[in-house]
Amino acid sequence: MQSAPGQEWNASGYAENARFVSDLGQPVVDLLNPQPGERILDLGCGDGALTEKLLAAGAEVIGVDASADMVFAAKQRGIDARLMDAYNLEFQAEFDAVFSNAALHWMKRDPDAIIAGLRRALKPGGRFAGEMGGHGCVAAVVVALCAALERYEISNPARLIPWYFPTQEEYRARLERNGFQIQYIALIPRPTPLRSGMRKWLETFAVSFINCVAEERRSSFLDEVTARLQPALCDQQGRWTADYMRLRFLACGR
Ligand code: BEZ
Repeated sequence: MQSAPGQEWNASGYAENARFVSDLGQPVVDLLNPQPGERILDLGCGDGALTEKLLAAGAEVIGVDASADMVFAAKQRGIDARLMDAYNLEFQAEFDAVFSNAALHWMKRDPDAIIAGLRRALKPGGRFAGEMGGHGCVAAVVVALCAALERYEISNPARLIPWYFPTQEEYRARLERNGFQIQYIALIPRPTPLRSGMRKWLETFAVSFINCVAEERRSSFLDEVTARLQPALCDQQGRWTADYMRLRFLACGR
């Protein structure tokens, strides 16, 4: 995983509260269609749950991640996982494909630099299959977090949004200007059940917002955000569903 300010990844917490992220990753594995013997780079491999699927298809895979804890967890699965900053990838024309699930939206600072680094890592004609949060992803959650932060007198809370959720048009243009040809791209609504509930989701993914609040007020802050979201995202049985939008694409290096 890539880190936003204050966002630290912990493999056991992730396994407990965010396993759905890799569980729901099969469509982008299918889009990649990994082949035996291919060399594949898994960008933001996390604890390697999806990397294992690429290996099971017979591919030779290197996983990279910016979290030492996640790299350790991936290595424990026997994966060749390396601690690496996605902005400084060390690969040149050596992969048949790049794969990335639920990682690119954490790399908000300079998406073009990320795409250019991946293009350099690919052999000519190599493919890039990715899925990330897309425009409108967790919009209700973002509005509730910002509204609650304003009540806590945090100015301009939108500056704390750690995610990059592009439109289809914007990401297409970025891929094309960095040397890719689009084979497929779609923005897909994917309401996502949160088995651990909204509070755990916030504690896992919304750390940059929570850390702005004084420690002794964080619990009431989370109560307030959860109460604001309850009418929109929680059903009568107390089951939470987050308003995810996915941007899924397959592109080929020109
Ligand atoms: C995700 O990992 O898919 C995700 C993380 C934070 C916000 C929305 C989506």
